[in-house]
Amino acid sequence: MNAFKYGCSVDGENFCARPDLSKSLSTYVESGQNLVIQGERRIGKTSLVKETVSSMRGWSMLYADFMGVKSVTDVCNRIADALARFDSSDSFLRRIFAALVHLRPVATVDAMTGLPTISVDARASAAPSSVNTVMNAVEAHVKGRKACVVFDEFQDILDVKDGEQMLALMRGRIQFMPHTSFVFLGSARNAMMDIFMSPKSPFYKSAAVFDVGTIPDDDFFEFAKARFATGRRRLPRALFGRILDFVDRTSGDVQEMCDAIWQISEPGDRLDDGHFERGLGFVFDREGGVFALFLKPITDIQLRVLRALAVQGGEHPLSGAFLEEARLTNTATVRRSLTSLERTGLVYPGPSGWRFASPFFREWMRRRK
Ligand SMILES: Nc1ncnc2c1ncn2[C@@H]1O[C@H](COP(=O)(O)OP(=O)(O)O)[C@@H](O)[C@H]1O
Ligand SMILES: [Mg+2]
Repeated sequence: MNAFKYGCSVDGENFCARPDLSKSLSTYVESGQNLVIQGERRIGKTSLVKETVSSMRGWSMLYADFMGVKSVTDVCNRIADALARFDSSDSFLRRIFAALVHLRPVATVDAMTGLPTISVDARASAAPSSVNTVMNAVEAHVKGRKACVVFDEFQDILDVKDGEQMLALMRGRIQFMPHTSFVFLGSARNAMMDIFMSPKSPFYKSAAVFDVGTIPDDDFFEFAKARFATGRRRLPRALFGRILDFVDRTSGDVQEMCDAIWQISEPGDRLDDGHFERGLGFVFDREGGVFALFLKPITDIQLRVLRALAVQGGEHPLSGAFLEEARLTNTATVRRSLTSLERTGLVYPGPSGWRFASPFFREWMRRRK
């Protein structure tokens, strides 16, 4: 049994309740307000929205995930699938089929879940205007119900060749559904900003911004303590504080670290710094190979900057101390290296300086000889 879960959205016993956020989120949804959810990666945006909306009595959720879509057909399929999952009764499925008939839909049963899925024909759905057809189907089916439409990894639509045109068409349809709350989530902060904050975008100012920050320390502690207790492990507050600091309070990384400590500990253990250290070792054993691959395309100078960042932190990368740590003399070199490193996705500029995307990689880098 695993007490901790990471790498996918969490619900039920794996979800640490966030009553304040859930309450304001459900209030917005009930009022038909469209929202764009903002927050760091792995902080818990998807989990919060799914858990909150699915527990709103009398409300149904249409959830479509656009992660990795590459074509108009992909986008249509994700929405068609969401519709099939929204309500899998025969009469409902028949209506979806009727609405999508021009896209030549086909129904199959998912071998894993036993649930019906719907896919549309690739040729029939090649033109961006196909999005109108699926959005019409959405409109027909949310009408008269209390429904919330959740579009996750929304920015990935921009990766499709006709992405901007599809966004404009979607926006056009959404405008005619004033009673339905659309909740947009994304992970690439800049791309989401372009969609919702740029005056040139059809979605400009079309949704209120809803921030998802870190889980309050005390709530997260009670949650983790109870999870560890299911395996008769005792979690002291101080050790949890160390975990929170180490992973910068990113929810998914907290759970990954707790899982590692769970893996290397035994029932009856009172967890301590020794477990923390062995937990880290567990993560490095598992992921060290991947971390080493990250470094392959990196130049020697970039490597020095990356290591200095791991050792010193990224608040003052242009300071004398930083330059010395990186054995460089020129701030322009540091700047250039950081820009190149950002493109690899390993680091990014946060509100209070440069940060590593993964605290485990940061620590691995710091200890590397
Ligand atoms: N409310 C929560 N309670 C406990 N863990 C959470 C919670 N929200 C997120 N997590 C952790 O973070 C991970 C990523 O959550 P997710 O909702 O996918 O984040 P995001 O959508 O912001 O990237 C989850 O797998 C889980 O480990
Ligand atoms: Mg997410």
